[in-house]
Amino acid sequence: MSGKAVAIVGMQWGDEGKGKLVDYCAEKADVVVRYQGGNNAGHTVVAKGKKFKFHLLPSGAPQEKEIVIGNGCVVNPKVLLEEMAMLRAEGIEPKLRISSTAHVIMPYHLLLDGMEESHKGKFKAGTTRQGIGPTYSDKAARFGIRIWDLLDKDILAEKVEKILPLKQYMLSSLGCEETLDFNAIIDVYSDYGQQLRSYITDTATFINNCLDEGKNVLFEGAQGTLLGIDEGMYPFGTSSNASALGVPAGTGVAPTRITSIIGIVKAYTSRVGEGPLPTELLDEVGNQIREQGHEYGTTTGRPRRIGWLDTVAIRYAKMVNQPNGVVVTLLDALADINPLKICTAYEQDGELVDAWPIQAEILAKVTPVYVELPGWGSRTEDEWLEIARQQDMDALPQEMRDYLAKMEELIGIPVYAVSIGPDREATINIKDVF
Ligand code: GDP
Ligand code: IMO
Ligand code: MG
Repeated sequence: MSGKAVAIVGMQWGDEGKGKLVDYCAEKADVVVRYQGGNNAGHTVVAKGKKFKFHLLPSGAPQEKEIVIGNGCVVNPKVLLEEMAMLRAEGIEPKLRISSTAHVIMPYHLLLDGMEESHKGKFKAGTTRQGIGPTYSDKAARFGIRIWDLLDKDILAEKVEKILPLKQYMLSSLGCEETLDFNAIIDVYSDYGQQLRSYITDTATFINNCLDEGKNVLFEGAQGTLLGIDEGMYPFGTSSNASALGVPAGTGVAPTRITSIIGIVKAYTSRVGEGPLPTELLDEVGNQIREQGHEYGTTTGRPRRIGWLDTVAIRYAKMVNQPNGVVVTLLDALADINPLKICTAYEQDGELVDAWPIQAEILAKVTPVYVELPGWGSRTEDEWLEIARQQDMDALPQEMRDYLAKMEELIGIPVYAVSIGPDREATINIKDVF
């Protein structure tokens, strides 16, 4: 019998707590796979007194699961090697496989990311400056370097020789004064290839074989549905498909093999970078939530923009992902805020808009409609942990249960688990994912 294939996806603008939930669900998985994005992602895992921040490695790594970087990802080899070294320093040997067809972030991609952002003015997304957009652009233009190319210095040199003059021209015309050094790039990147050689393989065959053998596979989304290149808030998002729709294309696993999809929903809204955010809180309440949720970027350290929970956006993410269930995270970060608000619909020119507007220019013009609910008082991190250990929803404050019930009613997706702290144990399970 085929193993189960479960996808974990962000239902908002990223940083929903995917890393925590992937680690939580990984207990019952054999393999954990990243299927898109690169080191723009920052996924935090807190377990057994240790905290890991992963940018590229799947969050199943601390549990010594088989981990895979799929073909839909873009890889900065330097960052990957550093992350592997970080894991080894913790006494964990990564059981890693990297897709030979994943694309490589080259030095000119990093430079172009910053230069292009400056040039875009009000259309800039506020990227993480990790070269993500320029690398995916080259992939689509069939001008990219794939991981496999790093294994043969002659092949790498032949390709880079064709690309480099164009990149130099683009950089110079955008005002960048750096000179791209062909020999240095070839030496450094073929050395990365040698260091990664034993991990590079055909990961689509590996994952499909695992499922054939009855092994459970967990797919770890990066970013969130509303940041995706196709379904997200273009151009204020990232360059890969950050919804469940990205799983097949980014792994070589057919859509019919995916057994369930779990959406991760943060109990409020957070957003790093530019673009319209209808429920944004630019006041003391927003500051309080930011501090209580430690909402500073895992990758860039930037303060995250904060807003009320937006169920119009989540209903759109529901349509795109069709999740079987959701996990609600960071409920504890809303403590001591009274009243709490949930956005139920948008209003534009006196009319109610229930559907997601898709165009950023329209989203910028809507006014959220809210329902108000009473808040709950604060607890210490240990007290939340103690509540979670009871594994009983009735142990949660009544107001929190009411908030969850309202959310469930508005989004129409069953809640599979709730998270009330960063630690793996600060989770109440309602329905098993595997
Ligand atoms: P990801 O990108 O979706 O993996 O999320 P991040 O790791 O970037 O951001 C989520 C942050 O919230 C991390 O610092 C987590 O450790 C933390 N976190 C996750 N779930 C909870 C929760 O339920 N409560 C609190 N207080 N923190 C959480
Ligand atoms: P995780 O996986 C939150 C945002 C950036 C920017 C836009 C494009 O941790 O949830 P990029 O560098 O990808 O070209 O930036 O997308 N962004 C994220 N925001 N969480 C992330 O990842 C993000 N990855 C990219 O802030 O607005
Ligand atoms: Mg993150």
